[in-house]
Order: sequence, then C-alpha cells, then structure tokens
Amino acid sequence: MNHIFFLECSPAGNQSMGAQLVATALRDGQSRTQGMRLTTRSLAAQPLAPVSAQYAKAITSSAPLDDPALALSEKLISEMETSDRLLISTPMHNFTVPATLKLWIDYVLRIHRTFTNTPDGKVGLLQDRPTLVLVRSGGACIGDAARQPDFLTPYLRHALSTLGLHQVRFLYLAGPSPTVETLAHTRQALTSFLFPSIQPETSREHTSIALPNPVV
Ligand SMILES: Cc1cc2nc3c(=O)[nH]c(=O)nc-3n(C[C@H](O)[C@H](O)[C@H](O)COP(=O)(O)O)c2cc1C
Repeated sequence: MNHIFFLECSPAGNQSMGAQLVATALRDGQSRTQGMRLTTRSLAAQPLAPVSAQYAKAITSSAPLDDPALALSEKLISEMETSDRLLISTPMHNFTVPATLKLWIDYVLRIHRTFTNTPDGKVGLLQDRPTLVLVRSGGACIGDAARQPDFLTPYLRHALSTLGLHQVRFLYLAGPSPTVETLAHTRQALTSFLFPSIQPETSREHTSIALPNPVV
C-alpha cells in the first residue's frame, strides 16, 4: 500500500496552483493508482482552531493521550503516522511558512508524543518517510535570483526533522505564471513522488524553479 498524506496549506485551497499540480499529477498517473491511497487535509477548507489554554496546559503537563484537549492533535498526528509518504504544498508568507502551517506544526510537534528531549537535543519519534515540500512564492526565494531571505526552508526542515522526518526534498515554484517547461518539470517531480515504483525520483535534494521575472 502506498498511502500518501497531502497537506495543502494555501488559503486558495484546492484552487491553488500547488493543489492543481498535484491533481494533474494524479490524473497523469491515473492508471497506476491501484494500491495507492491519498488522504488530503486542506488547511483552508478545514481551518484548525487556535491553540487553546487547555491544549497548552495538556501538552506541558504530560496529560494522558485520551485527554479531550489533545483530541485534535492526536487526529492530525495519526494522519501522518498512518501514511507512507508526506506531501506538503505551501505558499511562502512573509519569508516563512503561512500561519496555518505553523498552527498545524503546533498541533503535531508535541513533546513526549512526536519528539523527546535527550541530552543531545530534541529527537523525533515518528518513523522517517519520504517527504516532498512544494513551495510557492511570488518571487524567487532561493538561488542567485532570490532578492529575499528564505526562513521557510530551514524552519520547516528543522520542524520536520524534529518529528523524525529526515528524507525531505523541497521543490520551489516562484512567480505567478510559470512557463510550460517549469510546470512540466514540477508535474514530473510530483508524479515521481506519488508513483515511486514507476518513476525513480531524482537524487537532487533541491530543485529550484524560478521564473525570469520575479514579482516580489
Ligand atoms: C500574506 C502573504 C504574504 C506573502 N509573502 C510572500 C513572501 O514573503 N515572499 C514571496 O515571494 N511571496 C509572498 N507572497 C506571495 C505568495 O507566496 C504567492 O502568491 C504564492 O504563489 C501563493 O501560492 P498559493 O497560490 O499556492 O497560495 C505572500 C502572499 C501573501 C498572501
């Protein structure tokens, strides 16, 4: 079973370019979806409640797992735990992750549950699994064309590695109107990720897809 958990973080939800590219990649591989399961969580369609005082108290006081204040956190963690691969599509908002993705992290990155403290620092408790992050931004955010800092990549990479997810690859899609070649490249990378037994993934950790005329 190839079970993919897809986390869509754009305010545009399934209208976002990231979600549409994923939908296209799924259509491209339609004949290969046998044995594949996709669970999607759209942070726009299903907004998460802000962190409550009860949740803050529960996670800092080692409350039992069945504490009602931990119910949402448990649900979100189990969506990840039961998947073989994690696909995150996120815009860059003010040089980092959007607030919705930060909130999701606040629910899933939980002491004594998904990470533990050791003398050497925090260590993730989730089983590692291939993870692909598609970053959408108005302008280039990495490479020579970037005219802005990128706090998204190091922050998200660190948060995911604290969960125990180290096999993380980032793809970047900058600008409002990607070229046909850029879109084809991204689609191919997504198809390789979604259907790994058919198309081997490239070994590159970063693939920068910047447009010639950045707008931000
Ligand atoms: C609140 C907000 C902040 C943004 N900050 C940045 C930014 O720091 N850098 C950037 O390149 N684009 C920024 N953008 C532009 C988006 O990243 C860009 O439009 C992206 O393509 C949106 O992707 P989406 O359609 O998947 O949501 C921002 C957009 C919004 C709404």
